[in-house]
Amino acid sequence: MINVTQLGYAGVNVVELDSLQHVLDKVCGAEVRRDGERLYARVDERHHRLAFYKADTMSLAYMGLEVESLDALRAAENELRGKGLEVTRATAAEREERAVLDMIHLRGPDGVRIELFFGAVLEKLPLKPGRAISGFVTGELGLGHVVLACADRDAATRFYTEHFSFRLTDYIFWSEAEATFLHCNPRHHTLALMNPCFGMVPGQFNHLMLQVKSIDDVGRAYDIVLEEGIPMVMNLGRHTNDQMTSFYVKTESGFAIEYGYGGVEVDDHDWDVKVFNAPALWGHALQA
Ligand SMILES: [Fe+2]
Repeated sequence: MINVTQLGYAGVNVVELDSLQHVLDKVCGAEVRRDGERLYARVDERHHRLAFYKADTMSLAYMGLEVESLDALRAAENELRGKGLEVTRATAAEREERAVLDMIHLRGPDGVRIELFFGAVLEKLPLKPGRAISGFVTGELGLGHVVLACADRDAATRFYTEHFSFRLTDYIFWSEAEATFLHCNPRHHTLALMNPCFGMVPGQFNHLMLQVKSIDDVGRAYDIVLEEGIPMVMNLGRHTNDQMTSFYVKTESGFAIEYGYGGVEVDDHDWDVKVFNAPALWGHALQA
């Protein structure tokens, strides 16, 4: 069992960068750096936590799962190989581009590229947000969460909970959707696995979530989205399970960015796995 401490970073292949840059910068308040056909977003002291690459189709390029030391990374490599999984060591160029000390990668369910890493590079200067916000909730909770559609949700759940230290948080079943929520630290979920519902195909990247420190950060972002007519997947609402108050910006590439405040945290010593029959307490209405 490999102890994953957090989602350290994520990379997404996107078909469009300009409006995405605007959303990350002026709606989300990230510190954005454009490097030709690449876009990097910094949200805390780390060099970056999100990378976007211009591509022909949208997909999750990789998710970076952090382990606690270089020794743990070597042990993870041996453990995965011992189980017959194919593991590759990062090249020097990959380590530099991800801004980490070391990294290995493998393919998970539905071909998702999982990167295990240690040693995120820190910036000496404070974060310079794209707009005035109180800040992002990261630290030991990690970047946020990602949601994926899986061909076999139960098999994918077993993969992440048997090879890695992901633990079951809860389930939501509604309409044609089935969602399993997994945590690896107090953040309610770092990974959510869904069936291929609502037209999603197996392996499809549905959304990533960024959490901010104030409801006013969310409210002001919502004002900007409404004023500028930026498309949304779902309007402002509050989730049943993690109780996050959030809305979902629709990117031109097809995935969504959930921007939220106030998610509950999991204490493994005192946590009951629940089953919900709706994703929202209020709001989160699907937008045309
Ligand atoms: Fe979410």
